[in-house]
Amino acid sequence: MCGIVGYIGENNCVPILIEGLKRLEYRGYDSAGIGIINHDECRVVKTKGKVSELENLISEIQIESNLGIGHTRWATHGEPSMVNAHPHLNTDHTLFLIHNGIIENYLSLKKGLEKEGYVFKSETDTEVLAHLIDHYLKMKHSLFQAVRYALNEVEGTYGICVIYKREPDKIIVARKGSPLVIGIGENENFVASDVNALIAHTKQVVYLEDGEIAEVYKDSFTTKTISDETIIKEIHQVDIGIDEISKGGYPHFMLKEIMDQPESIYNSLRGRLVYNEGISKLGGLQGFEERIINSNRILISACGTSWHAALVGEYMIEQYAGIPVEVEYASEFRYRHPIISKDDTVIFISQSGETADTLAALKEAKKKGALCLGVCNVVGSSIARESDAGVYIHAGPEIGVASTKAFTAQLTVLALITLLIARRRNLSLPEGQEVIKELQQITNKVEIILKQNEYIEKIADQYVNCRNFLYLGRGYNFPVALEGALKLKEISYIHAEGYPAAEMKHGPIALIDDNMPVVFIATQDSVYDKIISNIQEVKARKGRILAIVNEEDEQIENMVDHIIRVPKTHNMLTPILTVIPLQLLAYHIAVKKGLNVDQPRNLAKSVTVE
Ligand code: AGP
Repeated sequence: MCGIVGYIGENNCVPILIEGLKRLEYRGYDSAGIGIINHDECRVVKTKGKVSELENLISEIQIESNLGIGHTRWATHGEPSMVNAHPHLNTDHTLFLIHNGIIENYLSLKKGLEKEGYVFKSETDTEVLAHLIDHYLKMKHSLFQAVRYALNEVEGTYGICVIYKREPDKIIVARKGSPLVIGIGENENFVASDVNALIAHTKQVVYLEDGEIAEVYKDSFTTKTISDETIIKEIHQVDIGIDEISKGGYPHFMLKEIMDQPESIYNSLRGRLVYNEGISKLGGLQGFEERIINSNRILISACGTSWHAALVGEYMIEQYAGIPVEVEYASEFRYRHPIISKDDTVIFISQSGETADTLAALKEAKKKGALCLGVCNVVGSSIARESDAGVYIHAGPEIGVASTKAFTAQLTVLALITLLIARRRNLSLPEGQEVIKELQQITNKVEIILKQNEYIEKIADQYVNCRNFLYLGRGYNFPVALEGALKLKEISYIHAEGYPAAEMKHGPIALIDDNMPVVFIATQDSVYDKIISNIQEVKARKGRILAIVNEEDEQIENMVDHIIRVPKTHNMLTPILTVIPLQLLAYHIAVKKGLNVDQPRNLAKSVTVE
C-alpha cells in the first residue's frame, strides 16, 4: 500500500529517493518523507500531501547524503499528516524507520514501551517499531539483531527499511506480507517496494521472501531468516524498460494503459497459441494440466476488477470446459471456512500479486490441499511465488490505480486457460481453432475501438454532471457492466451500479428517470432479444441510454441516446472488447471533472492490508 525506497552508495541519495518515490506514488500518496544520515548529520523531511510537495520542501534546504530512505504513504493508522508521515524516529533521532503494512499488536507493544518511558509523537503503528528497535539497541545489540528481535515481537505485516547513525554503512530491510526488493548497483545498492523505483538504476534485483531480513551495504548484502539462519538469495534480471513506466506522452498513465491494450493483449498471447492443434500452451501450468483438467471444481478468488475478470472466467470455463466454477471475493473466502478438497483447483487473480486478502485466501486454500494457480501481472510477486503454478499476464507495469490493461490481459489469459482445459475435455479441434483465430484478430479489433476515443470523449461531455449511473449487461457482458460501473466510480466519484439487465424488474427500475443514465452492453449474442426488451423498459420510463453494440447492429441505434459500436468476436472474448468504451467513458468523465485520474482519492494501486 505504501511506497518504500532506500539508497546506499557513492552518489547523493536525495534525488534518487525523490525520483523513486515518484515512481511508487501510485501505491499511496497522502503524505511523504525522507530520512538521510550523513556522517553526524541526521535529517528528516516529511510532509502531508504528494511527493512533489516533499520535493519543494527539500529544494529549499540543501541536503545531501550517501545513505537515505524515503516513503510515500497510504494511511492505515493515523490520519494523513506530517507527524504521521514516515520516516519515524527513535527518541534521540539516531534511527529512522519506514514501513509498509500493519502491526496488529502495536497497542500492546506501545503500552509496554510507554511503561519504559518512551514518549510517542504520532498515532501510527510504525512509530512503535522504531522505539522497539531502540529498546533493543539500548541492550547493546547491533542494528541487525535489534531489528530482528523487535520483529520477532511483531504480529502483522511489514516491509521495512531502517538506518542508524551509529552504523551508517548499511540499510536493514525485512519483509513479512509486504513486498521488498533489493536493487544491485555498481558500488551502490537500492531497496524498494517494487522494481518500478529501481529500473532507472539497475535491472539486477533480489526479491525478499516473508520472514527474511537483509543487511544492505553499498557494495554487498547479506540475508538471514528472522530466526537468524543465513540464506543465499538468487539475483534476478528484470526485463522492464524505463519507458514502460513513464507516461509516453499521454496526459495520464490510465490513458496510456488503455491505449497500450493492443500491445498488452498481444503480449499475454505471445507464444501461447498452437493453431494446428487448436490449443493453448501455458508453460507455467506444465506438470499440472492433468490435475486441472480432472478438477472436481474450479474456484476463482480475487478482489475488485480482478474479481470481475473471475466472473468472466466462470462463464468461459463452465460453457466450454464443462467444469463447475465458483467465484469468491477473497476477503470473504479467507474467513468463511470454505469447504475445499485436494480435488479442487483454485485460481487467484491479482494484477499486483500483493493484495492482502487474495494472498491470505491463497494460503487458506493451500492449507486445505487445493491446487492453487496464480494469474498475476507482477513477476516475482507474493501471490505468484506462493502459488503451486500459474500464468503471468505480461501486461507490463500498470501504474494507473484504475485497472484497465491488466483486466483485458486477465480475460485473455482466462480464455487461454479455458482453451487448454476445454480441448482436453469436450471442445473439438475446429472449435478450438475458431477461438484461436479470434484471439489472433482481437488486437486489431481493440485498435478499431480505440480509434473512437475522441468520439467517446464527446459522449462523455453529455454525462459529466450526472450523479448516478446504472450499467446493465447479460451473460458475458454482466461482469463487464460491473467493471464499467467500478471504473466510473473509482475515478470520477460518481455513484454507479452494475446489474444483470434482467434484474432491473426486481427493484432498480424504480430509480429510472431522465436523470439516471443507463449504460447497456448489448452485443448480438444469445440473449440479445432479451436485452432489447430491457432497453425498451428503460426507454418507457424516460431513462437516458448509452448502448455498446456490435458494428452490424441496426435495431438499437433508434432506441437510445448514444451508441458506441464494437466489432464482433467469439462470445467468450466479447468482454475484452465491450469493456474498452467503458474505460474511455470513465476516463474522460473524470478528466472533465478535473479529478486526479491516476491517483483517485482514498485509493491505492495495491491493497496490501486488510
Ligand atoms: C481496480 O480498478 C481497482 N484498482 C481495484 O479494484 C483492484 O482491481 C483490486 O484492488 C485488486 O487488485 P489486484 O488485482 O492487484 O489484486
